Amino acid sequence: MTLSRLVSELKLPPAKSNGIHRLMRLLVYSGFFATTKMLDENEEGYVLTASSKLLLKSEIPNLSRFVRLMVDPVFVNPCQSLGDWFLGNETNPFEAVHGASLYEFCDRNPGFNKVFNEGMASDSQMMCLVVKDCKQVFEELDSLVDVGGGTGVIAKTILATFPHLKCTVLDLPHVVANMPETENLRYVGDDMFQSIPSADGIFLKHIMHNWSDEDCVKILKRSRAAIRDEDDGRKGKVLIIDIVLNRNEEEAEMKEVKLIYDVLIMVLLGGRERTEKEWEKLFLEAGFMSYKITPVFGLRSLIEVFL
Ligand SMILES: C[S@@+](CC[C@H](N)C(=O)[O-])C[C@H]1O[C@@H](n2cnc3c(N)ncnc32)[C@H](O)[C@@H]1O
Repeated sequence: MTLSRLVSELKLPPAKSNGIHRLMRLLVYSGFFATTKMLDENEEGYVLTASSKLLLKSEIPNLSRFVRLMVDPVFVNPCQSLGDWFLGNETNPFEAVHGASLYEFCDRNPGFNKVFNEGMASDSQMMCLVVKDCKQVFEELDSLVDVGGGTGVIAKTILATFPHLKCTVLDLPHVVANMPETENLRYVGDDMFQSIPSADGIFLKHIMHNWSDEDCVKILKRSRAAIRDEDDGRKGKVLIIDIVLNRNEEEAEMKEVKLIYDVLIMVLLGGRERTEKEWEKLFLEAGFMSYKITPVFGLRSLIEVFL
C-alpha cells in the first residue's frame, strides 16, 4: 500500500506521515519491506518481503508473538543494565533488574507469563518445518517427552504427523496447570532437574542454552536415565534443538544473529550458545557416545545424541 493509505489505515494524524515515511525508508533498506510501482497511483507502494510475512498473524506459523516478547520491556530493560551488571555481583542482568530469575518472574506475573508462553509457542509453530524435513528422526520412536515443552505446541505439531506417539510435556507447574490432555498427550508439572519421565525420545528445544555447563550435564544425565531401560535393554535418544555456533555453512548475517542471541541469553538467564566442541564436551561428560548435527530452520540445529 502507498504511504498515504498506510497512514490512513493506521488512523494516524496526517502530521505523522513524514515520520512513517522515514521509518518505512529504514525498513525498506533493511529488507523488511520492499517498494513497488503502483499502476493506478502516483505514489510508490510498500510490499511485504519474506521477513515481514513471518509476522502476519493471519499466517500459521508466524513469529508475531515471539517478536512481541523480544521487545517487551521486561526483556529490554535488563539489556540496558548490562554495563551495571558487569560491575556488580548479580547472577545475570535480568535478576539484577527484576529481583527474580526469569522463571520465578513468570510464576509471579501471570500477565507476563502469558506473553512469554505465547512467544515461545509462536516460535515453536516453526517446528512443523523440522517435522516435515526430518521425519525419519521421529519415525522410530514410540514415546517422547518434551522437556520444558511449554504449553505443548511442539508436542501437538509432532503428534499431527505421528499420531501413534505417546507424548508427555514436562514443564514447571505454573506453565502446564489445567492444560487439556488427550489420550496421547499428557502434561506433567515438575522440575526437570529432579525427574524426567521415561521415553524413547527426550526432546529439548531451547532449553540447554538457558543453563550453565554444569546444569546442562545434570539435565543430560537425567535424560540419559530416562531413555535407558536396563531391564529390557531399550535405548532411546535425546533430541536437542538449539544454536550451534561457528558452523561452516552459516552466512555472515546468520552468525551475527547467533552472537546476538548468545549475549541476550547471558542477559536473560545467564546461559550461553555453544560451538560444536562445547556441545560435544557436555555429551561426553554426561556419558553419551555419539551425536549427529543437522541444521534446521533459521538459526537452529537439530542435535541427535545417542547412548
Ligand atoms: C525458553 S522456554 C522453551 C519452551 C519450549 N521448549 C519452546 O522451545 O518453545 C524454556 C522452558 O523451560 C521451562 N523450565 C524452566 N525451568 C524448568 C525446570 N526446572 N523444569 C521444567 N521446565 C523448566 C520454562 O517454564 C519454559 O517453558
